[in-house]
Amino acid sequence: MKIAILYGTKYGTTEKIAELISKLIIKNHNKDDNGSIDVELINLKEKDDVNLDCDILIIGSSVYMGRIRKEVKSFIKKYRNTLIEKRFALFICGANEVEGIKQINKVFPSEIVNHSIATAFLEGELNLDKMKFLDRKIAQFIIKGANKEFKIDDVAIDEFVQKIKFSI
Ligand SMILES: Cc1cc2nc3c(=O)[nH]c(=O)nc-3n(C[C@H](O)[C@H](O)[C@H](O)COP(=O)(O)O)c2cc1C
Repeated sequence: MKIAILYGTKYGTTEKIAELISKLIIKNHNKDDNGSIDVELINLKEKDDVNLDCDILIIGSSVYMGRIRKEVKSFIKKYRNTLIEKRFALFICGANEVEGIKQINKVFPSEIVNHSIATAFLEGELNLDKMKFLDRKIAQFIIKGANKEFKIDDVAIDEFVQKIKFSI
């Protein structure tokens, strides 16, 4: 089985999540011991000409001010017709817990959301040290309002992967 995880990231959290998803898929697959598996990770900023010849696609993006990364948006637009013929899952990485998964319908076209086999809102990180000035100011505001530390949620990632596996 061939799986491609395609993602857009600004400061690397979505990339970390994509890697965790990949490791979990391989771990679960080895445990079940059913044939070979190939998981490819693709940063859409580095490669937008993608070979979609795989069994399952997992598409993820971080959210900024209610929008997904430009490269993910362009990818969906470019491959829309091919995508809806395929099995794919969607995830967004963010810090807006209140809006959470509701954001998925706002950031992806509804046709794409409706065709997906699994969706998830996965909590991200706010790495102030890495951020550009304006992002850092907004992130400080988010942290103050939430009054908590934002970190990757392994349990939510595991649940997302279980959902995808379930539909294979
Ligand atoms: C300026 C700014 C705007 C953001 N806007 C949103 C948002 O609209 N929704 C959300 O869930 N998270 C939002 N976040 C949180 C990011 O999505 C989160 O930090 C994520 O982990 C970033 O992942 P990345 O490093 O892969 O880009 C925002 C963060 C910043 C700094």
